[in-house]
Amino acid sequence: MADFAQIYGRNAPLHVEIGSGKGAFLLSEARARPECNFLGIEWASKYYLHTVDRIGRWGLTNVRIIRTDVAAFLPECVPDASVAAFHIYFPDPWPKKRHHKRRFVCPENTDQMIRCLQPGGLINIATDHAGYFDQIRSTLDAAIAAGRLQPAEFVRAAAAEPGEYVATNYERKYLKTGKPIFTAAARKPQHPD
Ligand SMILES: C[S@@+](CC[C@H](N)C(=O)[O-])C[C@H]1O[C@@H](n2cnc3c(N)ncnc32)[C@H](O)[C@@H]1O
Repeated sequence: MADFAQIYGRNAPLHVEIGSGKGAFLLSEARARPECNFLGIEWASKYYLHTVDRIGRWGLTNVRIIRTDVAAFLPECVPDASVAAFHIYFPDPWPKKRHHKRRFVCPENTDQMIRCLQPGGLINIATDHAGYFDQIRSTLDAAIAAGRLQPAEFVRAAAAEPGEYVATNYERKYLKTGKPIFTAAARKPQHPD
């Protein structure tokens, strides 16, 4: 399991972005919130290297990024109750029905996120894909019905301009084409039932 206090050289709330792409949210949020630690998880080498380069150029000391598959990383490396928030922005929608099982937000991965979250910790999700949003909504609602999560307000990014939620490359691309953006959020209860 990862020792985040050692990795960052301090104890601070840990924000994890799943599929951080070119790092637009990760870097601008890390710069806006120096009191928090940020971890990007990104499996595409090109985006990973782009983000590594920008972390250096921006001189950020509170961000790390790992190039790996998040579905393996969470169970193998992230300790219980170590994460303050998961950020999932425009996850790959896998639109074909036979590929839906590849979507990250599913009951099994949501269980992992809940395990990793501190009490009161947040799951914050945005997508442009209505079909995937239905799956996200029903997955979160099932966990809420089971008392494992509670409804929460979506938290907009520090760098979001009016009309934006997270100010990522994909969000800006979709907003330009007039696509609607769907958001969902939930928190781990402070005191489980
Ligand atoms: C549609 S892009 C969105 C990128 C960014 N969040 C944004 O809004 O601009 C989805 C990203 O998730 C990454 N990704 C997809 N599946 C992943 C996985 N299993 N583990 C880590 N990263 C993944 C992709 O490589 C890609 O960069």
